[in-house]
Amino acid sequence: MRLRIGAAIAAIASVTLSLSACSNLGGLDLNKVGEEGKTTWVKLALNQTETHPSYIALDHLSERFEERTDGRWKIDIYPNEQLGSQQEVLQFVKSGAIEMAIVSGTQLENLNKDFQVLNMPTTFSSVEHQMDVIRQPEIVGEVFSSLEESDNISVIGGFTQGSRNVYTSFGIVKTPADLAGKKIRVQESEMHIRMIELMGGSATPMSYGEVYTAIQSGVLDGAENNEVSYSTQRHMEVAPYFSYTNHLIGLDYMIMRHDLRQAMTDEDRAIFDEEWEKAMVEHTELWDKETKEAIAEAEATGATFDEVDREAFIEALTPIKDEFLTTDFQKQLFDAIRAADTSDAGGKK
Ligand code: GCU
Repeated sequence: MRLRIGAAIAAIASVTLSLSACSNLGGLDLNKVGEEGKTTWVKLALNQTETHPSYIALDHLSERFEERTDGRWKIDIYPNEQLGSQQEVLQFVKSGAIEMAIVSGTQLENLNKDFQVLNMPTTFSSVEHQMDVIRQPEIVGEVFSSLEESDNISVIGGFTQGSRNVYTSFGIVKTPADLAGKKIRVQESEMHIRMIELMGGSATPMSYGEVYTAIQSGVLDGAENNEVSYSTQRHMEVAPYFSYTNHLIGLDYMIMRHDLRQAMTDEDRAIFDEEWEKAMVEHTELWDKETKEAIAEAEATGATFDEVDREAFIEALTPIKDEFLTTDFQKQLFDAIRAADTSDAGGKK
């Protein structure tokens, strides 16, 4: 059902786009955004439920931005893939059919492979390390601005995805051998396909909203994600064995049409950026709390959470670094991120 609604709205969006191309009907008139006495409506696509920390933090951001601009700006959040899968909404932001979206790093990798560095096992030691690095323009600025001219996408910042882990319908996973021949869903990313192969499984790329049904029908044997997604997407109902492989600390990005960001006044852009910073802080605070609640909720349905042979997975994933850090720029970016790790998990300073 959700997919059908998404496809329908996607169709409407593409009609709006072709109309706006010839007559400026439907799309935002960038000469008039943020005008006094009028409201500029901004559409923000999200693939999470209304109970997910990303929705909560964005909802509060939307309220504050509206209030601080006296109602000249309103951000309308469309959760649950209502506007389409992340792959689709990325195209809509590029084309200007919608204005903002939260997309996983895997989506941006497909536009610029340098984003892979920020989405690779071993890059971040902790959420603290990750959120610290993405606030440092001297480290991530070049990558974050790399899509502005080519794809009309401004990367504003990020929300953590926390630690990602494997969960299955068939049983606890202790070692890579337990994943042999098992079909595990990954996000649409060359690197993540390889990641699951190295971890012993057979990777199936698929969009987020399709995973529940695919596991239920046996097309998949499992997936990998954080506890919050596991519970809010109800995946525990079809894959009750959650194993702490901790293979990746993932990252979602807030993206905005670059031409819209340019069309904002300096003052409105600064207000937005201040409120976005508060949204990142709120999201990180909520993350721990919601993770604990997600575990309790999944356990109440009979799901189990188990430790794995951590060393075996670390060892299995070792080749990924050499396979995917192929340019000098990528190697330097990786080294700069690692050097910036001052968290306890990094074991430095
Ligand atoms: C997480 C992440 C999403 C992503 C999803 C996925 O929930 O926050 O942005 O789409 O994982 O596995 O597809």
